[in-house]
Amino acid sequence: MTLAVGIDIGGTGIKGALVDLGTGALVSERVKRPTPPGGAPDAIVAQTVEILAELDAPAEAPVGVCFPAIVLEGRTMSAANVSEQWIGLEAEQLFEAELGRSIHFVNDADAAGVAEARYGAAAGQPGLTILTTLGTGIGSAFLFDGTLIPNTELGHLVLDGDDVEHWASNGVRERQELTFEAWAQRLQRFYAHVEFLFSPQLLVVGGGVSKHHEQFLPLLRLRTPIVPATLRNNAGIMGAAALAHRPL
Ligand code: BGC
Repeated sequence: MTLAVGIDIGGTGIKGALVDLGTGALVSERVKRPTPPGGAPDAIVAQTVEILAELDAPAEAPVGVCFPAIVLEGRTMSAANVSEQWIGLEAEQLFEAELGRSIHFVNDADAAGVAEARYGAAAGQPGLTILTTLGTGIGSAFLFDGTLIPNTELGHLVLDGDDVEHWASNGVRERQELTFEAWAQRLQRFYAHVEFLFSPQLLVVGGGVSKHHEQFLPLLRLRTPIVPATLRNNAGIMGAAALAHRPL
């Protein structure tokens, strides 16, 4: 069995587990801690150290960490919905120094996309798959024949004068108390444009709200099949672990 650790850092929680890379199954309990208020790097690293200690993973297991920012060669290049201190930070090096082992640091939606392509809704899917995660923000992952094209950031596509994640994320739906019908009209505008720009073979929709997919996916009129992600909130953990074993 090939094992790796996946750690998923989000705006509200940090969670980690040991993953069997053959099947994607979690083979440890899922350890979860709240994200420290403010989301500053040092506080998040400290929580991650505790999670890894609690997991008691084999020393030789690679560790993958995913995070909601553009990640270029281990450095975080953006900070939407997290502390600005992350911009330009050598995140991978910082985690490695504190954890005392080598890690691989990637974008959260990219990790989820890799997991869905390997173990979930897009397994075996040829051509271009676009996964979007609908959460506080909107994340995206492009996979061509299962290979990740990283850091696509569709949530920051400017459409009708503003970033899509500012008017179509699940966070906005909740804050504005939109009905699923009203929200679906916004998603229609977003996904129709994505379809026009990239002509994918498959659209996969992740994020916690995807468990309510029957309430909004059937309302969308697209030529591309659009399906819910299947790995739910373990996708980040599984994808971070998978990318740690075979980094880009
Ligand atoms: C960030 C992305 C992230 C997405 C989902 C966006 O605001 O820019 O990097 O993948 O939120 O967390």
